[in-house]
Amino acid sequence: MFTTPFLDLPPLASADGSVRLPGSKSISNRVLLLAGLSAGTTVVHDLLDSDDTQVMLAALRELGCGVEADGGAWRITGLGGRLATREASLFLGNAGTAMRPLTAALAVLAATQNGRFELRGVPRMHERPIGDLVDALRQLGCNITSLGEEGFPPLRLAAADTRLNTAQPIRVRGDVSSQFLTALLLALPLVSAEHAVTIEVDGELISKPYVDITLNLLARFGIQVQRDGWQRFVIPQGSAYRSPGSIHVEGDASSASYFVALGAIAAFGGRVLRIEGVGDDSIQGDLRFIDAARAMGADVRSGPGWLEVRRGAWPLKAITLDCNHIPDAAMTLAVMALYATGTTRLDNIASWRVKETDRIAAMATELRKLGAAVTEGPDFIEVTPPATWRAAAIHTYDDHRVAMCFSLAAFNPLVGGAVPVRILDPRCVAKTFPDYFETLFAVSRPGPAGVPVITIDGPTASGKGTLASAVAQALGYHFLDSGALYRATALSARDAGVADTDEPGLAKIAAGLQLAFHDQRIWLAGRDVSDDLRQEQVGAMASKVSAWPAVRQALYELQLAHRRLPGLVADGRDMGTVIFPGADLKVFVVASAAVRAERRHKQLISKGISTSIDDLRADLEARDARDQNRAISPLKPAEGAKVLDNSALTIDECVKAVLDWWAASRNWPAA
Ligand code: DC
Repeated sequence: MFTTPFLDLPPLASADGSVRLPGSKSISNRVLLLAGLSAGTTVVHDLLDSDDTQVMLAALRELGCGVEADGGAWRITGLGGRLATREASLFLGNAGTAMRPLTAALAVLAATQNGRFELRGVPRMHERPIGDLVDALRQLGCNITSLGEEGFPPLRLAAADTRLNTAQPIRVRGDVSSQFLTALLLALPLVSAEHAVTIEVDGELISKPYVDITLNLLARFGIQVQRDGWQRFVIPQGSAYRSPGSIHVEGDASSASYFVALGAIAAFGGRVLRIEGVGDDSIQGDLRFIDAARAMGADVRSGPGWLEVRRGAWPLKAITLDCNHIPDAAMTLAVMALYATGTTRLDNIASWRVKETDRIAAMATELRKLGAAVTEGPDFIEVTPPATWRAAAIHTYDDHRVAMCFSLAAFNPLVGGAVPVRILDPRCVAKTFPDYFETLFAVSRPGPAGVPVITIDGPTASGKGTLASAVAQALGYHFLDSGALYRATALSARDAGVADTDEPGLAKIAAGLQLAFHDQRIWLAGRDVSDDLRQEQVGAMASKVSAWPAVRQALYELQLAHRRLPGLVADGRDMGTVIFPGADLKVFVVASAAVRAERRHKQLISKGISTSIDDLRADLEARDARDQNRAISPLKPAEGAKVLDNSALTIDECVKAVLDWWAASRNWPAA
């Protein structure tokens, strides 16, 4: 997951391969609540792991449900309709799929079993209306107090003065959010003992497919709701939640929309994008996004649990569409519109205004930054593609869908653009798809300029490794510590008894290195060698080993393979001169031998190793001489390299200097 303040997507040019979708958000939180209300244990497979489900799991735990991770699954032991905890204060973040149904379930449980609960969330959650649901629950006799503004969270749910009135139909508005109806449908079986419970919808029900998911899952938990059109729903008398024992969560159909769009835009010339996790057996209405994508030109084939997408028409075709049935996935259409001929109009999307952010305003503002012409109305948006694409920093409003759909704008080279797209606060995708960007990068190929590379070369103990790693971290880029490859070769040679004069023997070892970099550690054939590699003797041997042309040749491809999306920061001696001569930014770090010897001395002292500064300095100078004078790939500044003398600079100052150079070279504002 990217936790950097921003993530720069370089211009991208094509896509193919296979992606597996995370579990559906809508299904995950409904299943968790139903399992939490049932008697007995439900094993939930393929649950989405995201902010919203974490919030729900934490809430269930707080309420006294059993919540255990079991391998890749979750074991939820439910309340069986009886409160285990009568008082709790629950923090529900920005998870509407937790706030609404928990409000309904806990309101009736508190009312009938003398409970007292407070539900709150992040500030944005306190701006998202819930009054229609509260009104419906008050008709029943539930005791609900708005602790802030009336009709918005935070809420207090308390014991009722009188028995709940389930004999009369409960009326709820259906034209603002279908989540209010869903919340009632999920919760009111709790009070169906004496009468069937009838819910009547006022106004035209929006987002009907989400209500379908609710009915489908209630059936899986033993509750058959009778429905009369979309106006009247009856929960039969004596309905009781029955755990299905085990349940699989299908992949998220709204998340699928980004990859369907990706295939339609970038899977051409024999390429195919395969999506695993949803298919033609899905219960999620957002899959009807496929029809809209087809209308714009996508070639989509499907089977049980899979989709395959190719580019069909190109450029895409502009459409005018009523999007009431696919409110979330429709945002993806607004970005597909950037690749269409003409103006795309999305109608009947008023619900966008009460989601994670005001999505109509957000989409309009951000699409315009890219150069698109956008008209917005109370319940529609019209998008005309840019005549000239502009590099833009996309504000994401803590809205996962804004972040995900705008990533598709990086394919602008396919329609004459050549600009990077900066996604601010990329972490917000954690709400539904924590690995979204990694998944996107795994199937995307860069445009003609390739994957961006920053090289940082310099002599030993110049601090370039620390600097390169910090720059990589700030940008969310991959990091190549090329010295580690030479050190690992030296370490392996030493262990295998191969002399530092045996060029062919060393080259063979270099070619067969089984190195892995993860969690800031380095693994050699499955062993964590991070500390061994830093030993002075290993460094000294690496300096000799690295002078052999056959060794350098053996490590060449391995180094190139680190150049992966979204970008690479590589440090060493010849990153800018030999390995990545076309790098986008080259830095050469220098510091006086005296300063470097002092730094190395401090490092060693802190590890409890005693040495003299003079010896260290002599050693560094000998190593510099060897690195600079060897016949092949000698240490020297690459052509066009920026020289950074860090003798008197702190690490933070060095990082800032490099990031400023980087921003200037890409025409971004300084970070
Ligand atoms: O950067 P370092 O101290 O970990 O490097 C160890 C040795 O490897 C160093 O003496 C020179 C050599 N090296 C190299 O020749 N080329 C590189 N790209 C990186 C390191």
